[in-house]
Amino acid sequence: KELIAEAEAFKTQSKEEVEAFRIKYLGSKGLLKEFYGELKNVANEQKREFGQIINQLKNTAEDKVNALKEELENKEEVKGIYGDLSRPGEPIQIGARHPISIVKNQIIDIFSRIGFNVSEGPEIEDDWHNFTALNLPEYHPARDMQDTFFIQTNPDILLRTHTSSVQVRYMENNTPPIRTISPGRVFRNEAISARSHCFFHQVEGLYIDKDVSFADLKQTLQHFTTEMFGKSKIRLRPSYFPFTEPSAEIDVYWGLETETDYKITKGTGWLEIGGCGMVDPNVLENCKIDPTEYSGFAFGVGIDRIAMLLHQIGDIRLLSENDVRFLEQFKSAL
Ligand code: PHE
Repeated sequence: KELIAEAEAFKTQSKEEVEAFRIKYLGSKGLLKEFYGELKNVANEQKREFGQIINQLKNTAEDKVNALKEELENKEEVKGIYGDLSRPGEPIQIGARHPISIVKNQIIDIFSRIGFNVSEGPEIEDDWHNFTALNLPEYHPARDMQDTFFIQTNPDILLRTHTSSVQVRYMENNTPPIRTISPGRVFRNEAISARSHCFFHQVEGLYIDKDVSFADLKQTLQHFTTEMFGKSKIRLRPSYFPFTEPSAEIDVYWGLETETDYKITKGTGWLEIGGCGMVDPNVLENCKIDPTEYSGFAFGVGIDRIAMLLHQIGDIRLLSENDVRFLEQFKSAL
């Protein structure tokens, strides 16, 4: 029992002493060997207790040796790291840009080369910038509780449902000619699935000047998809938005070959990437721009959609789950 206490109390900084300790207790001529040898000479009724005590001693000694060895090795390692200053650095894990950022930056590059600047607006918006100024009548279904996350009602404060709110802010604070794109996150109260999420990303485009025509809009979009996807076709499908007239949905057709591509596009080669149109004169007026002097176009495209198409991502939820196994696949991208 005394030996157990002694073994427990043992301390040292030297490897040699640990080894000497090990030999003393656990070596082939050590104390334990001796005690085990002794066992047959112990009276039968004491065998059990004696056996227990030497087992305990054995465990204590073994634990001690292991603990001391580990401690000393750790110390050596630390000394190694700080001791040799010429030692090359440990490789550092470098993160990857998020696919949304990669695509957003590409879009910004493409449009800045044709004279568009970048503007931003708040994600928490008021009713005027998200709806009223955009010619959305008070009882328009898009205002419905089912689509919009309201933070407060009366006066209404909400999470913007589209980046078109930034158009309004930009026109209120700038005079034509205007050429701006506004990337950002938008929110809609939708069921989350592989194809839709309650938040996603858009880029708004706005071009206001004298004599801007629908042909300018179409060619700008064609230029964009060619730069973005390579050889591609666009199709403008007649549609309706309260803030543009005429309005269209933008579809892009791009060399779709693999099964994944078809899954994303639900089996057709055309993928809808956003909406567009000529800015409604009412919107210009709401922003104090004279519609008899100026005209312009606007568009809004979904960044998530484009990222999924370009990088063959089959589930939109991957874009916000931040699973490193997913994210680090984008290390080689810009
Ligand atoms: N704001 C529209 C949407 O989110 C897209 C759009 C933008 C349409 C600009 C026309 C002009 O669906």
